[in-house]
Amino acid sequence: MATAKTKLIVKTVCATLITLAIAGALGGFAVLASGIYNVASTSQHLQFVHAILEKGMHHSVRFHARKVITPPLDDKQLVKSGAVLYQANCVECHGAPGVAPRGIGMGMQPVPGPLVDVTSKWDAGQMYWIVRHGIKMSGMPAWEYRMQDEELWQLVAFLQQMPQLSPADYKMLASNQEGEK
Ligand code: HEC
Repeated sequence: MATAKTKLIVKTVCATLITLAIAGALGGFAVLASGIYNVASTSQHLQFVHAILEKGMHHSVRFHARKVITPPLDDKQLVKSGAVLYQANCVECHGAPGVAPRGIGMGMQPVPGPLVDVTSKWDAGQMYWIVRHGIKMSGMPAWEYRMQDEELWQLVAFLQQMPQLSPADYKMLASNQEGEK
């Protein structure tokens, strides 16, 4: 008798879960198909959508970058070369110490961060992975086919120093033509 009752409870719980899952999927589809969700860059993601995407991006980068082996990055020449590359390729979206992003960077959603907190969010291998592969559906380009591997690491060496640089330091580093390959 007790087993029959338990079976009934299990069946009811399963049926309820399946019905809820189908209703959820249909509800989600209805929202997408209605076009009500606004894809305009002038309208921010809903807070919970943003939180889900951000979390997913963090887990994805951590997982995919787990095998990246970071070479030594202390050499000052690497940082200088990275600054020159950064000024040429990244500043328009991310800005730099004393340099505002240009129109393209200011008009994007998500807004490309100023990268001042980049070292507290990502280690060197993760930064390398992001710069090499880009971030799908965010506007962060992949540089794998536009730069040599050593240039990607020069950028990472620079990014690690950037949060501590004053506008004057940055200007000096980024205009140092010796650093250019
Ligand atoms: C066309 C604009 C654009 C350019 C150019 C660009 N980025 Fe990005 N970048 C983005 C966007 C958008 C994001 C994602 C921001 C987010 O998800 O919050 C991003 C994210 C990043 C992140 C992760 C930041 C974080 O807070 O998690 C790093 C690191 C980064 N970019 C480095 C670079 C470097 C280095 C270059 C130059 C080689 C570069 N980016 C060029 C738009 C750009």
